[in-house]
Amino acid sequence: MGYARIALLGPPGAGKGTQAKRIVEATGFVHLSTGDILRDEVARGTQLGVEAKGFMDRGELVPDELIVNMIRGRIEAASSGFLLDGFPRTLAQAEALEKIVALDIVININLSREEVVNRLTSRRVCRNCGAIYNLHFKPPADPTRCEACGGALYQRDDDQPDVISNRYQVYEESTAPLVEFYRQRGLLQDVDAERPSDEVFECITALLRA
Ligand code: AP5
Repeated sequence: MGYARIALLGPPGAGKGTQAKRIVEATGFVHLSTGDILRDEVARGTQLGVEAKGFMDRGELVPDELIVNMIRGRIEAASSGFLLDGFPRTLAQAEALEKIVALDIVININLSREEVVNRLTSRRVCRNCGAIYNLHFKPPADPTRCEACGGALYQRDDDQPDVISNRYQVYEESTAPLVEFYRQRGLLQDVDAERPSDEVFECITALLRA
């Protein structure tokens, strides 16, 4: 792959986590998902987890300072390549990131609001290994068990319809402006996610090889 410092942008449920898992499998880059890191902090009951939980449950963003402090060291440690998933999410985060490292490419995964709601209300995630399923588009053989590791599948607390609606609004207000921010810097590449996961992956790998 030609690029080693990559960020995935896009609304909640666009498929960032799904594609990120495949990209890091193919490249060996470090997957840095701020959502996954925060959920782990919540599950372990750390101070950061306690502070973040209320924001996450309401579908609001966790304050920039907490997020930047949480991710900075992980980015600096990933010297052979990283894939940012869910970060940056505000202009302040993007500006802080520029001071840590220069990105090679930002992939903007586009999906309509209607399809976001459709995919998120039917998402299930493995509590053990984090594998992502969908009751309609990628149904597990047993809707309660992960096919990869046998772990229990669960529905994320923030995948309730009212929280999804709030997350989408927050995306439009706070994160969508980053599309222009990165376009102006010549880093942005758009990908249409309204098609099967394999096709989205092919499109992304073609961009990363360029
Ligand atoms: P985070 O975990 O980052 O959530 P998100 O950005 O809302 O994204 P999701 O994980 O919900 O969706 P995704 O795009 O990864 O889609 P997925 O691949 O699962 O953040 C959660 C919370 O943490 C935030 O609300 C905030 O509070 C906090 N937070 C995190 N980062 C932060 C930051 N930087 N600053 C401040 N706060 C932060 O796919 C969705 C579903 O669709 C799955 O079921 C999947 O199987 C299915 N699917 C995927 N692709 C396809 C396809 N092509 N066709 C059909 N189905 C598909």
